[in-house]
Amino acid sequence: MASLTRVPGLLHGGDWSPEQWPEAVWAEDLKLMNEAGVNLVTIGVFAWARIQPDADSWDFGWLDRLLELCHAHAVAVDLATATASPPAWLVRAHPELLPQTADGVRLEFGSRQHYCPSSPVYRAAAVRLTKALAERYHAHPALALWHIHNEYGDHVAECFCPESATAFRRWLRERYGERIAELNRCWGTAFWSQHYGQFEEIEPPRTAPGPVNPTQLLDWRRFCSDALLALYRAEKAVLDEVAPGVPVTTNFMSMLKSLDYWEWSRHEDLVSDDAYPDPADPRAQVTAAMNYDLMRSLKGGRPWLLMEQAPSAVSWRPVNLPKPPGLYRLWSLQALARGADGVLHFQWRASVAGAEKFHSAMLPHRGTASRGWRATVRLGAELRRLGEIAGSRLRGQAAVLLDWDSWWALELDDHPSARMRWPELLGPWYAALHERGITVDFVPPTGELDGYRLLLAPNLYLLDIATADRLTAYVRAGGHLVCGPFSGISDRHDHIHPGGHPGPLRPLLGIVVDEHRPIPDGAATAVRLGPGPGPRELRAVTWSEWIELEGAEPLAHYATGELAGRPAVTRHRHGRGSAWYLSCHLGSDVGPVLELPLAEAGVTPELPGLPPGVEATRRRAADGTGYLFLLNHGPAECHVPLDGGTDLLTGAEVTGGVTLAPLGAAVVRIPRATAPTPAPTPEPAEEHL
Ligand code: GLA
Repeated sequence: MASLTRVPGLLHGGDWSPEQWPEAVWAEDLKLMNEAGVNLVTIGVFAWARIQPDADSWDFGWLDRLLELCHAHAVAVDLATATASPPAWLVRAHPELLPQTADGVRLEFGSRQHYCPSSPVYRAAAVRLTKALAERYHAHPALALWHIHNEYGDHVAECFCPESATAFRRWLRERYGERIAELNRCWGTAFWSQHYGQFEEIEPPRTAPGPVNPTQLLDWRRFCSDALLALYRAEKAVLDEVAPGVPVTTNFMSMLKSLDYWEWSRHEDLVSDDAYPDPADPRAQVTAAMNYDLMRSLKGGRPWLLMEQAPSAVSWRPVNLPKPPGLYRLWSLQALARGADGVLHFQWRASVAGAEKFHSAMLPHRGTASRGWRATVRLGAELRRLGEIAGSRLRGQAAVLLDWDSWWALELDDHPSARMRWPELLGPWYAALHERGITVDFVPPTGELDGYRLLLAPNLYLLDIATADRLTAYVRAGGHLVCGPFSGISDRHDHIHPGGHPGPLRPLLGIVVDEHRPIPDGAATAVRLGPGPGPRELRAVTWSEWIELEGAEPLAHYATGELAGRPAVTRHRHGRGSAWYLSCHLGSDVGPVLELPLAEAGVTPELPGLPPGVEATRRRAADGTGYLFLLNHGPAECHVPLDGGTDLLTGAEVTGGVTLAPLGAAVVRIPRATAPTPAPTPEPAEEHL
């Protein structure tokens, strides 16, 4: 059984902040952790000031005792490098390390993440601390995982201080090979007299009188992601050198715009994520599923770790609802259903002071008498029962193209509509597939496409020729590509592809866009889908286009407004493959349109005919054993017919089917003989991973 760390089975635990408590409390904590089946705790995340009280003193005594205590209680440690909150002494000695906003406001000490990503002083101090921790604990038997920093890009994803300006210029010099003429060409500086004579004249895109050069802004996004990544990599290099063999992660923040997680995850040993679906959002589980699918995809389907979730309420929304009974368990199982090999939390024991004292915890303020504590213990017991699923995998039946470059460029200013945002475009497509029981993987533009019969691109605003060629080859080889509106617009410098949109996709899609026609807020344009089952009258919102056919066939037409009678959705066949184009944003009405390519590509749900609200995924172990997750997000009891298998949550044999209570779940082991599809190729054995 492969495992994310050397800890066998599924991981259970959370952030633990012993530095907030007298040591007498620690023993009780560990006793209770044992009771709750906690096998991994994250420690030290915000303990820099405690570990290094001033520039020249270190206090490791408490951490030594803590790790020993953990080891004695068989609780493994995910040791943080503690670098997310620089101590006051460092900030006062070097106030220049504080970050600045685009308006030149310096962000003060008193919260966390108060550092400039490009500050050499901060970086040197962070690397020094990481080295000290690595040297002291690399061989400690409790150490199972390194946790670099915390949520890069959370509060401060960009800094506009002079140090950042210097780093930005350095980054530009490298990108443009020291050629200022090339930068001028790529940035289109002939516009508005923005020409630069030398790199020294360039500044970060600070607040300016009017719209700022879009390519400057796009390069800034790229630079900011790279600047934080460079910080992460500086710490990672220390750990790899001093503590080789211990896996390293940093906790991601689901689908985060500011960091290109494709690039980041290449430098992690395992992917971990912090997820805080809102119990007040009736569709939160759909967004959560999407985020979990992304986390699984970042390392090509390898198991990932839910590093943080809230046992109940968070404390940072305007109104923080607790999770109703059962929801915490269901959402924990959902992460496992989508490939996680562990469920950790923020945080173990509820704080009594500080900004997060009203945040829920595994051990609430009321202590072991609380309902929250019982839920913690129950989850721990269930995770133990599910231990054998660790290392098994699931694979999507279709793939969604995700490109951070394109996301950044799409959301730059001065576009035909500011409403065209990646999450809003992606969300309804994902939801339509989710409702139809289709699990998707995410792939980058350079990713492996061949294994998927259906590839969805809700938006590809920025598209280089190489990617267009890959998509064309994919369709010519029999693949089915569905492309959303406002795609193929610009190249990697955000220059418009000349000759009509969608630029290099025009021959593949067999259409040309004559004009973009954004739809005003609150308005809609009717779209009529050709004959077939299901709804035929759909509503386009936000966006429509005047398109002309160049080989594609129309499958839906606009039915109202100035575009009435013109094609809205098209298909262009290429041998066995086909390329579909949606020229409008159909929002929640996109489902009936996506059913057409789903059918043509032969993509079917994991388990057909599920009651509404039931989510089903299947993980598979290397030996072919299947693990069918059935999660009832709906308000009513329901029955899922099923023959054979064992529900690992209850131990009961499944005969005839499974009955799911509202918010109920089953995890059915299906032995290899009856598992309908072949097992994935086993991973080569990896030390510690
Ligand atoms: C994030 C952080 C934690 C904590 C939680 C609260 O995930 O990583 O330190 O602030 O949010 O929800």
